[in-house]
Amino acid sequence: MPAAGFILEKIKQGEALKKAFEINRAEITDIIKDSGLKGRGGAGFPTGLKMYLCGAAADTVKYVVCNADEGEPGTFKDRVILETIPEKVFEGMTITAYVIGSREGIVYLRGEYAYLKSELENVLKEMRKNNMLGENILGKGFSFDIRIALGAGAYVCGEETALIESLEGKRGEAKNKPPFPVSSGLFGHPTLVSNVETFCNIPHIVDKGSLWFKNMGSGKSTGTKLISVSGDVKKPGVYEITFGMKVKDLLKLAGAEETKAVDIGGASGIIIPELQFEREISFEDIPTGGSIIVFDKTRKMADIMENFMEFFLDESCGQCTPCREGTKYFVDAVEKIKNRKITEQDLKNLRDISDCMKITSKCGLGQASTNAFISILDNFKDELLS
Ligand SMILES: Cc1cc2nc3c(=O)[nH]c(=O)nc-3n(C[C@H](O)[C@H](O)[C@H](O)COP(=O)(O)O)c2cc1C
Ligand code: SF4
Repeated sequence: MPAAGFILEKIKQGEALKKAFEINRAEITDIIKDSGLKGRGGAGFPTGLKMYLCGAAADTVKYVVCNADEGEPGTFKDRVILETIPEKVFEGMTITAYVIGSREGIVYLRGEYAYLKSELENVLKEMRKNNMLGENILGKGFSFDIRIALGAGAYVCGEETALIESLEGKRGEAKNKPPFPVSSGLFGHPTLVSNVETFCNIPHIVDKGSLWFKNMGSGKSTGTKLISVSGDVKKPGVYEITFGMKVKDLLKLAGAEETKAVDIGGASGIIIPELQFEREISFEDIPTGGSIIVFDKTRKMADIMENFMEFFLDESCGQCTPCREGTKYFVDAVEKIKNRKITEQDLKNLRDISDCMKITSKCGLGQASTNAFISILDNFKDELLS
């Protein structure tokens, strides 16, 4: 499966927007639905369906929010998008706003990316000057504008309901779903929250059609994916792959040698051994929001476990008991493993606690926090217990 490449390419600004204005809103939603585009932020929710639901919500005030929090360890592809082609993200947001009937867009920018804010604002100014944002865009009677809001550095604020709380000026904590943001989001109004990369796909699909998009990828994973590759590789960086690429082929591209394990999906993801490098990066096999961290044979799996478990203990917002207490339990378990004090009964209990956290944690942070631990236990048990 070859590496693809259109996301980071520049486009002729405004072409897709002009095309969108020539098509009716329902038709654009159908094109996006038919393309099979799924959210690139990790959860993989169908973008066309999200547009439809938000568009159908009965409210005169709606918001389009671009999730640029990019807090997943090992992910830096959204930063590269915002550094190189921010205008494409803004055009994707504008088309989305036209479809759902929104007048206001917000980019929730990771606090650590504050240095990008003034350049992003310059791009927005230029778009306003060219009548591609603001009042009566391109003379089509549709008005929409975008502002940048800075995050304050908590991983959980990437979760859409916590992000919305943060945008409202409150402490960033996840809320129960339903209601989902598409029906009740920012200040109680329907809100479409999508990832930076997801918005980038929209102008291309509107311009070139759903068939063009569907012809890339594999099965139900259509299009391409930006992957941030880091760790023990000769060529770390952002790679655009078509879905379905085997892990081993990506490792080859990135110049990985003597690879022992690959983390797919960051701290929330899974860690696979060499035997599984034939597996594919796709929603059907191994999904990822875009982080791949490579570990070579010098790495100790218990150290990797420790790093991820401490991350979740630090980042748990503490609101719900399974996550608040469970993350501590897993940090203690790694210490036991390192001190050769873990028993088979402890490991069984840990699996039960992990299952419980998946079912009872309020948000994805707690639900996914044990993935790394359990996959290392499944795949590297001999090393852990030796
Ligand atoms: C703890 C946590 C952190 C998240 N961080 C991000 C993030 O940094 N960027 C992102 O796009 N989605 C993140 N998400 C997923 C969002 O909740 C949401 O699903 C996503 O922004 C929707 O966009 P999409 O449909 O384009 O993927 C996170 C989810 C959880 C549970
Ligand atoms: S799962 Fe964790 S991060 Fe999410 S609400 Fe509960 S305590 Fe907070």
